[in-house]
Amino acid sequence: MLIAVLGATGFLSSAVVDAALAAGHDVVAVSRGNKGEPPPGTTWVRADRDDVASLSSAMAPFLDRIDSVIDCSGFTVEGAIAAAAVFKNVPHYVYVSSISAYRNWPPGPIRGEDDELAHHDDDLTQYGPMKAESERILRAAVGKRLLAVRAGIIIGPGDDTYRLTTWLHRIATEEWVGVPAARSQPIAVIDVRDLATWMVTAAEELVIGPLNATGPAGMCTFGEMLEACADAIRSTGLPAARFANLHDAELRAAGVRPWTDMPFVLPGDVAHTVWQVDTARARELAVPVRPISESVADTWAWQVRAALSHPPLPAVVRELTERRAAKEMAAAAEGASA
Ligand SMILES: NC(=O)c1ccc[n+]([C@@H]2O[C@H](COP(=O)([O-])OP(=O)(O)OC[C@H]3O[C@@H](n4cnc5c(N)ncnc54)[C@H](OP(=O)(O)O)[C@@H]3O)[C@@H](O)[C@H]2O)c1
Repeated sequence: MLIAVLGATGFLSSAVVDAALAAGHDVVAVSRGNKGEPPPGTTWVRADRDDVASLSSAMAPFLDRIDSVIDCSGFTVEGAIAAAAVFKNVPHYVYVSSISAYRNWPPGPIRGEDDELAHHDDDLTQYGPMKAESERILRAAVGKRLLAVRAGIIIGPGDDTYRLTTWLHRIATEEWVGVPAARSQPIAVIDVRDLATWMVTAAEELVIGPLNATGPAGMCTFGEMLEACADAIRSTGLPAARFANLHDAELRAAGVRPWTDMPFVLPGDVAHTVWQVDTARARELAVPVRPISESVADTWAWQVRAALSHPPLPAVVRELTERRAAKEMAAAAEGASA
């Protein structure tokens, strides 16, 4: 097959290119070159996919031979309009959308792929509405040949979104790491390699329709993910930080910004519904879910290799952590002397 991968050098798109090459397909890799070059074995087409003239002239030599497009660089409505114009006659089109496309997410829950999407008259400069509108534009162009992959949080090697890697970094470099005391919250994520490999299979099998593409709600808890981080770090011979339990009320009172200062951590009222995404179709279609421990260990190995640097710990988190750690150490000392 000839697969056009829009993106090709990013977090997800690199994994898609690897999976397509591993499956023996020919790959036309489309990117601007800002993120480096696609790997050997691909045909690199340098184009701005948001610009119809650029995309159309770059793709002209391939258009009548493309079997499927896997679109991993949809960040604007203009990009969807351009792709719709250029690829309207391809046999199959995979658009990487997001669960953010749902009007009610966050807070969720998402009960299935028929849940309402953001509207045309919502603010299309916002990520979720942009994804919903892009799906509509592409569906209008390619009709039933569209597979709209509404991805959840993607993790794994190559992830430069500073979510999982932030926790790994903190646990590897601090003596104590401030974590929410309540961390039994079930979360759901998908490994980049699982999603990429599955999308290549979906291109081969011409899978169509909308799909919530993430792990099953409850595949692990936030606490289990943090423990997996500590285990991964220890398994490379390094000490892992101790956890300092911070309570919701003190996090709120100190002004700790959910998600921004503590990735994956959400305010209590949202945390209970946001991870509840119905993935029955993904399970039926055998979207793989590898153990969180494997994703975490491989991400850790990658971030060490890549020498990924992280911004300093937010001062407010450091302060709360130090205060809690001092209390826990004092309590332990008291217990030892009693
Ligand atoms: N990361 C997540 O957790 C997550 C979750 C849900 C959905 N998604 C979706 O998954 C897709 C991939 O995300 P990602 O994190 O892998 O992105 P990424 O790492 O930023 O990679 C984006 C890729 O697209 C290329 N690109 C960007 N703008 C382009 C343009 N105008 N023309 C041509 N190429 C362009 C980039 O290369 P150049 O800059 O060199 O052109 C790069 O290869 C996106 O559609 C995103 O919305 C991601």
